[in-house]
Amino acid sequence: MANVRSTYTDSVNFYGQEDPRELVSRFGSPLYVYNENILRERCRDLLGLSSLPGFRVNYSAKANTNPALLRIIRSEGCVVDAMSPGELHINALAGFTPEEITYVCNNVSAEELKNAADHGCVVSVDSLAQLELFGEVCPGGRVMVRFNPGIGAGHSEKVVTGGKKTKFGVDPDMLPQVQDIVARHELRLVGVNQHIGSLFMEAAPYLDAMKILLAMAEKLLKLGYPLEIIDFGGGLGMPYHKYEGQSRMDMKALSEAIHGCLSEWAASTGYQGRFFIEPGRYVVAECGVVLGTVHATKNNGPHLFAGTDIGFTVLARPMLYDAFHDVEIYRENGAPDTENVEQTIVGNICESGDILAKDRQLPLIRQGDVIAMLDAGAYGWVMASTYNQRMRPAEVLIGADGKARLIRRRETLEDLTSTLVLD
Ligand code: LLP
Repeated sequence: MANVRSTYTDSVNFYGQEDPRELVSRFGSPLYVYNENILRERCRDLLGLSSLPGFRVNYSAKANTNPALLRIIRSEGCVVDAMSPGELHINALAGFTPEEITYVCNNVSAEELKNAADHGCVVSVDSLAQLELFGEVCPGGRVMVRFNPGIGAGHSEKVVTGGKKTKFGVDPDMLPQVQDIVARHELRLVGVNQHIGSLFMEAAPYLDAMKILLAMAEKLLKLGYPLEIIDFGGGLGMPYHKYEGQSRMDMKALSEAIHGCLSEWAASTGYQGRFFIEPGRYVVAECGVVLGTVHATKNNGPHLFAGTDIGFTVLARPMLYDAFHDVEIYRENGAPDTENVEQTIVGNICESGDILAKDRQLPLIRQGDVIAMLDAGAYGWVMASTYNQRMRPAEVLIGADGKARLIRRRETLEDLTSTLVLD
């Protein structure tokens, strides 16, 4: 194993019986690689948060919709959300039944609302206008309402979804208007949900928001609404700073807080329905890396650049949110390199913002090295694009047997032009 920097993936046996350089030569570069064992472990962390019979982990599929991963997640006992006809279609393809899919959308057409309801999914709407529209196209239908608890949290302003500055959810003060629309269209208000934002490492805001939603649910139960689902949203973080030893969220403490709060509330209200948490990142981030190849290195004045084929079309998070992903370096006959130099790792896209990792202290990266961006399983491939007319990469899964199999082929020039209408 060529291991200039690989102690993290070594420690979790990420590549099983495979070697990352060999994977790149077999499947091409760049390449998303996932590990089944890690994915299962993360599902189990979450499923273990509460033993209440109604407790569900509603995996938020926007983080990664590869059906091979979805099937594993389903086999662990999770249900799933969808927020577009595409996600609904792929969830179904992976074997999720309509009862296992919740449609959590915002600002969608009447047709889309009806499509989800006709499929048999419960639909969650996030404004009075969308509730009205749902009532018009699905009178008498089952619906959930997304409330905005006024509390937000997340790693970037772009992913904080609670609070007054965001487009999401219905203000709890608007409950009378909600009731009016529900009554006019004879809807069955069967659930409430919220999502405060994405990536927090401290549970306090989530737990505070949980109590706010439970208070709303209690009010609705007392008013006689047949609530079946109370969905607290996702956002649970995981450590991206692997090489600095960043600690994980304390799942035991989180379990005590969540289980304690929910069982007490269920006992006091007599509620027998389901409680959802809706994590995406926590489930899939750590089971994925993206491998790429260093095609050039250079100095620009004092600045050292390593130029790779992982542009922001392959991994968008650093460019979009200044997000941090740790880096590993694999080299033929490489040896652990203890001396670090400041380097910036960039991609192959025609923009200066095409930066994967800025000013990092790392062993000197050389042309021909294969690098891994860690924790790329969530919001990685799903946010890839074909800008600059680059084709999106393949994905492989290291199964429980330690062997890699292709779960998405690399795009071809034919894929790139398949939607064009040429004269
Ligand atoms: N539920 C709803 C309604 C959501 O909008 C989201 C994420 C989730 C659940 C799952 O959140 P998670 O557990 O993954 O934090 N592209 C960004 C993250 C965007 C999150 C969007 N909504 C990133 O790469 O950081």
